[in-house]
Amino acid sequence: MVRQAHHDKLLFITMRVLSGMQPSGQLHIGNYFGSMRPNLEWQDKAEQAFYFVADLHALTTVQDKDVLRKARIDIILDYLACGFDPAKAIMFYQSHIPEHAELMWILSSLMPMGLLERAVSYKDKLSKGISPTVGLFTYPVLMAADILMYDANIVPVGKDQKQHVEFARDIAIKFNNVYGDILVIPEPQIREDVAVVPGTNGQKMSKSYGNTIPLFGSESEIKKAIMGIETDSKGMNDPKDPDTCTVYKIHKLFLSEDEATILAAEYNNGLPYGEAKKKLMQTYMDYFHSMRQKREKLTEANAKEVTDAGAKRAKSLAVGTMAKVRAAVGLL
Ligand code: ADP
Ligand code: TRP
Repeated sequence: MVRQAHHDKLLFITMRVLSGMQPSGQLHIGNYFGSMRPNLEWQDKAEQAFYFVADLHALTTVQDKDVLRKARIDIILDYLACGFDPAKAIMFYQSHIPEHAELMWILSSLMPMGLLERAVSYKDKLSKGISPTVGLFTYPVLMAADILMYDANIVPVGKDQKQHVEFARDIAIKFNNVYGDILVIPEPQIREDVAVVPGTNGQKMSKSYGNTIPLFGSESEIKKAIMGIETDSKGMNDPKDPDTCTVYKIHKLFLSEDEATILAAEYNNGLPYGEAKKKLMQTYMDYFHSMRQKREKLTEANAKEVTDAGAKRAKSLAVGTMAKVRAAVGLL
């Protein structure tokens, strides 16, 4: 519980954390440090955490059934391997709870077109050549339904998703104004201490830029990515500037402050880039060792067990919310 002063009254607010992950390809260390690690912390802090696979959202970009089916399972197994725990968090597939689509429709009927027309992420996707479907346009309304369904008040997202959570907030406020106090107003949680992880070319790591280091790729894939990190043309034993070096910036993510300072000194003392990359490779493999071992043992049956149980728990909450919502709008 957190205590929050509000209009001179002290309110006790339950921390209900929710986050959706799109099943859209191999996870990379940008996802791990930018999203998974902070969410692992929330999983322990929250009274209730919800982590679901946004498979309905994925339909806006993935239109191959085999690809989607596999990606959906893989992301659950990846999350389990990294420490997401169905005993602590409710983990499920969005599409297993059809109430999301129903709530989305009810919210759509209140959602101003103008708001969605301002969506940065929609414009971004169009500029990347994704065709402008109705689904892509109304994507934020489905996301609002995901959040509002479970009374989530904390929604940890990266900067790119902040506007979507603000839309969810706006539409919840509007719904409550029209129909009474039914929906819980969510907050985006942007962690300023979560840095943007650079990719192998120094730009933001992203699967759309082909500059990733995979979490669960083969050792040789990881080695190839790390050895391929772009560096400047300083000579073997010249002093290197850790602050502008992508190898160092990535390595630092794994280290304590003291360890990072020691490594920075080695760069200043002329650590050759080839050696620096080998050190990073070693740290990388050590850090992810137990997760990678766990991942190898997980099977489709494990994903099914987790998501079946998660769907049951999510369903009973969704049914409760929809009963209130239907009654409020005059559908009961
Ligand atoms: P991608 O850019 O590879 O398509 P997604 O958009 O699917 O990644 O991101 C999923 C989550 O991982 C989001 O919460 C996002 O903020 C986080 N994330 C992705 N790339 C990075 C990065 N380079 N640095 C920090 N966080 C990232
Ligand atoms: N749109 C989010 C992304 O691309 C995924 C998502 C769907 C989500 N529904 C959500 C995130 C609800 C937080 C809350 O990363």
